[in-house]
Amino acid sequence: QELELKLEMLEKGGFDHFMLKEIYEQPRSIRDCMRGRIYPEEGKVQLGGIKEFADKLKNIDRIIIVACGTSWHAGLVGEYLIEEYARIPVEVEYASEFRYRNPIITEKDVVIAISQSGETADTMAAIEMAKERGATIFGICNVAGASIPRLSHAGVYTHAGPEIGVASTKAFTAQVTVLTLMAFYMAQQRGAITTSKLIELLTELNEIPDKIQTALESNDIIKEVSEKIKDSRNCLFLGRGSGFPVALEGALKLKEISYIHAEGYPAAEMKHGPIALIDEEMPVVFIATQNSSYEKVISNIQEVKARKGKVIAIVTEGDVEVKKMADYCIEIPDANEAFLPLLATIPLQLLSYHIAVMRGCNVDQPRNLAKSVTVE
Ligand code: AGP
Repeated sequence: QELELKLEMLEKGGFDHFMLKEIYEQPRSIRDCMRGRIYPEEGKVQLGGIKEFADKLKNIDRIIIVACGTSWHAGLVGEYLIEEYARIPVEVEYASEFRYRNPIITEKDVVIAISQSGETADTMAAIEMAKERGATIFGICNVAGASIPRLSHAGVYTHAGPEIGVASTKAFTAQVTVLTLMAFYMAQQRGAITTSKLIELLTELNEIPDKIQTALESNDIIKEVSEKIKDSRNCLFLGRGSGFPVALEGALKLKEISYIHAEGYPAAEMKHGPIALIDEEMPVVFIATQNSSYEKVISNIQEVKARKGKVIAIVTEGDVEVKKMADYCIEIPDANEAFLPLLATIPLQLLSYHIAVMRGCNVDQPRNLAKSVTVE
């Protein structure tokens, strides 16, 4: 038994839990995910796995993304990026809903199925249905040779390495990285982006692993914040634009490992209902980085403060405005808005991790959850 324990310690690489190890692996896993795929100096993206369909991508009218859970959140980030850069309309569907509807799918559609495990039953069924109706299927998977890559016509692996913690962390950021690469690749194929713009974006993307490393350095502050809110019964996560899926992911992480009820919302939706929940007991986590929705998020923070809510804000390094209002601020490095989800997710992962540990929860194997959901 002692040997087993030692072996487990070794597998965790000195970390207390697999989840923490996997959170800290992200600078490396994202670098691995981009390796051989981006050429910043030339302003070029190469995705060998979908190269065969490069011409098809020039003429498609629509992309449908299907996934479940965290992978679905990555899909929402993908929607922002693909529409912004490749200018292709995107729909993001829960695989479990999509498979039981009678969706309109044609041969001109590309369906992107996202799955860490590559074995999720609902996602597999959605693929089969779309395939029967003539769509081209691209898989985004982490586990090589799993069922979903085998069912897909083409695909891109995330190369995040094995993810043991039930709560997905490094697989999510790798999925977002692949979707970023896909958005740029499609933009390049369709002539929707200039080479100089791609040079600029890819140069910045190349710096993201280092910036994630910097974001991880806020761990001690995050631990302090966790201590303050660990006994809450509820928690809200709010963001706008691509900060919205980040908020959803932050809420899912917190609820799955700490069992605190948490919800993610687009910040502007707050006044359509959730604002009724806000009082001094309610922590509200804002994605309040300096980007196109900064000013609007600030007014949402004011609304929460006016109702005595506790504000925890993820802000851009050097922020002044939000700091005047928020109870706690966690800084992340500045970056192009396109890469915000990759950075803003990191403190939220650490926040849920510390809260769960402080509450004595089984972080790596939360109750009622399985790493891969192979039944519907
Ligand atoms: C993530 O933290 C969850 N445990 C869960 O939502 C997961 O993302 C979902 O079950 C989908 O799994 P997949 O990516 O392996 O298809």
